[in-house]
Amino acid sequence: MTDRHREERAASFERGAAVYAATRPSYPDDAVAWCVPARARDALDLAAGTGKLTASLVARGLDVVAVEPSDAMRGELVAVLPGVDARTGTAEATGLPDASVDVVTVGQAWHWFDEAAAAAECARVLRPGGVLAVLWNLRDEAVDWMAAFSVLLHRGDALDPARPAPVVGDAFGPVEGATFRWSQPFRPTDLRGLAASRSHLLTLPEAERDAILDEVDELAAIHPALRGRDVVDFPYVTHCWRATRR
Ligand SMILES: C[S@@+](CC[C@H](N)C(=O)[O-])C[C@H]1O[C@@H](n2cnc3c(N)ncnc32)[C@H](O)[C@@H]1O
Repeated sequence: MTDRHREERAASFERGAAVYAATRPSYPDDAVAWCVPARARDALDLAAGTGKLTASLVARGLDVVAVEPSDAMRGELVAVLPGVDARTGTAEATGLPDASVDVVTVGQAWHWFDEAAAAAECARVLRPGGVLAVLWNLRDEAVDWMAAFSVLLHRGDALDPARPAPVVGDAFGPVEGATFRWSQPFRPTDLRGLAASRSHLLTLPEAERDAILDEVDELAAIHPALRGRDVVDFPYVTHCWRATRR
């Protein structure tokens, strides 16, 4: 994938903000607890999107700044979390002062960043002893309908779906990882919207996107685990990485 294509993909969320807010998952409490140090007061939620992870930080009593470059995504966040300090900015240039937060969280977004520049920026804004935490909610493909759904989502996708540990540089101690399995109730009829919120589909030509979305509808209509059900368990595995600022 070229840098230009990656940038187009990263910017595509501007077109899918409402459906993102309606269909994407939040984060399990035990994963957020693992990421956020108990003593933390000030948090930066970086690439905060529509506020899915921001809401968990607010619920933990943290004083949160949410930085997000897309006006549409940030607009959804402000609508659900009007008390949060939401700012435009990027991972490479947050606009926050030096040593001003105890934790930086990045949900579902580290792969869009210039990794070295983002790691340096996170090191700059974290206080010594603060934590950089990177989280990804991945579909649990051990479940067979989810594996079939994933095949459709990644058809023709040049972006590697693997989400390895972030490379954060010498300003941080060792990167530690943990995974958390969980599920959330989901209407099979919303599978189409969830698929449509993904950057790969947002950037496909309309005819190709519609063909994949029609197959997603077909999966929801015929798979025995989905057919005729109002609500099913949507299984996720949340992968978390954390590193402490030296
Ligand atoms: C998949 S969404 C994740 C949103 C939210 N963190 C969540 O967990 O739902 C990815 C977000 O990264 C943002 N983004 C893309 N490139 C970025 C960059 N270089 N710096 C900061 N945010 C970026 C997009 O605008 C989008 O809102």
